[in-house]
Amino acid sequence: VVALAATVGLASEDITATGLVLIALATAIGAGIGLWRARVVEMTGMPELIAIMHSLVGLAAAFVGWNGYLDVDAELSGSLLGIHHAEVFIGVFIGAVTFTGSVIAYLKLSARINSRPLTLPGKHVLNIGALVAFVALTVAFVARPNMGLLIAVTVIALALGAHLVASIGGGDMPVVVSMLNSYSGWAAAASGFLLANNLLIVTGALVGSSGAYLSYIMCKAMNRSFISVIAGGFGTPAAAADDGEHGEHREISAEETAELLRDASAVIITPGYGMAVAQAQYPVAELARKLRERGVEVRFGIHPVAGRLPGHMNVLLAEANVPYDIVLEMDEINDDFAATSVVLVIGANDTVNPAATDNPASPIAGMPVLHVWEAADVVVFKRSMAAGYAGVQNPLFFRENSQMLFGDAKQRVEDILRSLDALDTPVKEMAGTSR
Ligand code: TAP
Repeated sequence: VVALAATVGLASEDITATGLVLIALATAIGAGIGLWRARVVEMTGMPELIAIMHSLVGLAAAFVGWNGYLDVDAELSGSLLGIHHAEVFIGVFIGAVTFTGSVIAYLKLSARINSRPLTLPGKHVLNIGALVAFVALTVAFVARPNMGLLIAVTVIALALGAHLVASIGGGDMPVVVSMLNSYSGWAAAASGFLLANNLLIVTGALVGSSGAYLSYIMCKAMNRSFISVIAGGFGTPAAAADDGEHGEHREISAEETAELLRDASAVIITPGYGMAVAQAQYPVAELARKLRERGVEVRFGIHPVAGRLPGHMNVLLAEANVPYDIVLEMDEINDDFAATSVVLVIGANDTVNPAATDNPASPIAGMPVLHVWEAADVVVFKRSMAAGYAGVQNPLFFRENSQMLFGDAKQRVEDILRSLDALDTPVKEMAGTSR
């Protein structure tokens, strides 16, 4: 708001009344759309909203760059003019990469296109070739600016942005979103240089560097190489062909799960994206409360990328008033699964996939996961045998100590609560004596 007001204020002498009306109109429409989208978006739709917002920043930066070429300040000359043309070129490049990269991220996150990584032959050569072409074209453009070169770099950058993000697998998408956040910051900073707007340079650099740092932290949490992710999946192992041979899965009913829980001494609940979809956090909190009343030790194990946003599960559990001290991070709880009677996997899939530790050919190999399979019994709440976000089958479902509880997570947890109540009478007498 400060930037907008200052920019309009500084330029107001040169702006006609019609110009001011147009600016006010554009601001009102943009702010209206932004407020409306942010108000109606579901928590689960947040990453794709963020991705599409980044695409607008990229598009704006590319337009500002083009405008800088078409409308050169007559006072610039000599090396200043050369710097101006370099800013135009770099601004258009970063903006266009951010634009198409964010659009592809939006399409992947909203499941409008497949989230599997695109593997074109020689994809790294294509990426490096695009970067080399960009550097060479920048030199040529500064020496002899012309529209043909600017069109060429725009096309190369649009293709590079799309290709970089299309090459990244679903499991790495959270990092991509925070990386695009960073790119959008650099795109804004580039526009700031072009428009000689210090505030835009400062805010852009702030977003750019904090986004880059967040991406780095997330890469560390997921045991991914930062360079490999930003280079479009550079060095990621080829996806193993899924032979579909996983054996048989077993099913369990809500009543049987209630019995398992009644007899348990320690329970860990590992929620995932499905808990958010089902909005099951309230009955889950109620279940935790009931079990704790019976003397069962109940804790939650939260994977750093469970759900679709950093902290997604923590927000939902806090909303349902689950006490903070029983909500533990993956590193704090991962060694405790072996001593746990029952694990309830509520709508989680990739974050509890043993293939990440057992199968080096898996697309999610190396990603730290919750070791739920080490518990005595595992109950997996989901609606079908479908794969999770990363699109990989989960061998957990076929383990001997795993059982599937099919259906909507909220309804199933409510069924368990009812069954626990029905089992209550004999159990009440034993309350306090954990078994
Ligand atoms: P996912 O692997 O996405 O799996 C969620 C599971 O929930 C699905 O297999 C689905 O199975 C089930 N489900 C959906 N709706 C349900 C409902 N109403 N009731 C019961 N189950 C339901 O979940 P996760 O373990 O949380 O892993 C997160 C994934 O998202 C990771 O791959 C992560 O990299 C990625 N990601 C994370 C973020 C951040 S920052 N957290 C951002 C973007 C992407 P059914 O369809 O069979 O029900």
